[in-house]
Amino acid sequence: MLLPENQQFIVVVPAAGIGKRMLASCPKQYLTIDNQTILSHTINRLLSHKNIAKVVLAISDVDAYFAQTTLVDNPNIIRVSGGKERVDSVLNGLQVINDKEWVLVHDAARPCITHDDIDKLIKQCLASNSGGILAAPVVDTMKLAINNNANEATQVSKTIDRSSLWHAFTPQMFKTKELKQAIEEAQKKGLLITDESSAIESVGLPCLLVSGRIDNIKITRPEDLVLADFYLKQQQITQKKG
Ligand code: CTP
Ligand code: MG
Repeated sequence: MLLPENQQFIVVVPAAGIGKRMLASCPKQYLTIDNQTILSHTINRLLSHKNIAKVVLAISDVDAYFAQTTLVDNPNIIRVSGGKERVDSVLNGLQVINDKEWVLVHDAARPCITHDDIDKLIKQCLASNSGGILAAPVVDTMKLAINNNANEATQVSKTIDRSSLWHAFTPQMFKTKELKQAIEEAQKKGLLITDESSAIESVGLPCLLVSGRIDNIKITRPEDLVLADFYLKQQQITQKKG
């Protein structure tokens, strides 16, 4: 299936987190790799894709960094306010999008997303007329922990069958109206929503697992920064060769 060049999609990018686990002096999306912020790497990867027209970017109202970036003047970026949790930031983004359309949601903290993976996700979702997410099967043996007191060493309760476990990545792609309604319903029920798929699952709608590259990492801890730097450089080399 070929994607028509003129079929354009909007991507909501939640970028209003503080990056607590990164232990940095600024929110992790403003750390730099090759003199460019992580946020800018991510937005450039998205907006340079032929089928992505605009990015709706959720930025915290108390963010002191965004205004100093060159992204602030980009006409293809629509800025909205971030929310308390990731899901609140995403919902704020969905409010400014036409309900008739499909939407993709992509974490600001995933700069190593490739055009091939975006193509794959869009094609598979359109072909099956179903929402879907980039994801990868788990490779390590998976352990369930015993719920210990904070001051005790954590122990294994048991081993979980990993054959049906996948890591959920972004982008995640859904029909805008369905995603918005699913998030609103899930919030009313007080459910924990850590990605778009969890909202969709909670209302019983289908979600495809689209096998994606494992270098599409979410920069979360300090050691992820050097890995993202390496992956970005490797991907550029491969693209030049290919
Ligand atoms: N995010 C957001 N609004 C929030 C919380 C998170 O837009 N209230 C965004 C982050 O900026 C990030 C993405 O959601 O791009 C994924 O979240 P995560 O990796 O957890 O980032 P942080 O919440 O910033 O990090 P931490 O959980 O370590 O504090
Ligand atoms: Mg977080």
